[in-house]
Amino acid sequence: MQNKNLPNIKNKKDEDIEKIEKRAILILNSLGFKSFDELKGKQILDIGSGMADLALAAKKRGIDIVCSDINNEYFQKGVKSGLDYRWFSGYNIHTEGESFDLVLSSGSIPMISWKRSQVVELLKEAKRVLKKGGEFRFGPGCLIAAITDSNLSIKERISYMRSTKEAKEKRRKISLEILWSYDPNIVETLISLRTKYPTLYYTMKK
Ligand SMILES: C[S@@+](CC[C@H](N)C(=O)[O-])C[C@H]1O[C@@H](n2cnc3c(N)ncnc32)[C@H](O)[C@@H]1O
Repeated sequence: MQNKNLPNIKNKKDEDIEKIEKRAILILNSLGFKSFDELKGKQILDIGSGMADLALAAKKRGIDIVCSDINNEYFQKGVKSGLDYRWFSGYNIHTEGESFDLVLSSGSIPMISWKRSQVVELLKEAKRVLKKGGEFRFGPGCLIAAITDSNLSIKERISYMRSTKEAKEKRRKISLEILWSYDPNIVETLISLRTKYPTLYYTMKK
């Protein structure tokens, strides 16, 4: 008989695994992948992995993702979980000669970089560690730099943060201008405009 005074540890663990799975699938879909199968057989680097939900769920399916983050706590936790988790900034990727078929970044830099120059720095770094023919997928949504580091007035910046159609279009346009200033072949893939913020991701090929 179960002792009701003790926490139900097994269920808590199952719940945690379920949450990781859900978050991982959200990340995967927001970057335009329909299933984990699309990651199979690829050498993958994730920039700004945080809690590494994607890598943990992928590992269960036999897919290895090299994780990285600037946050030391996430790094230590990731290593303890048995992941290949590295501690560095995405602006300065340490890969010791490795190169990747796929570099991913979800909700991290370049999306959250405030300056255009930082976005470009990150794109350069990602391209440097990509294999020829490899790709960098990042998202979701527009770049924060489209609002924070632009030639817009304060009034315009505030108006472009809204969820109106015009504001969404403007953020998409400025984001692409920033990205294309480094590589005019970067592609924006729109998933939905019905959401509060545009749901989209970007692809840069080497
Ligand atoms: C919103 S979280 C996203 C985490 C994860 N990719 C996800 O989708 O759940 C942003 C992550 O980016 C990391 N980050 C911020 N600046 C970074 C930098 N310069 N280099 C690498 N990671 C960075 C943060 O520490 C944080 O873990």
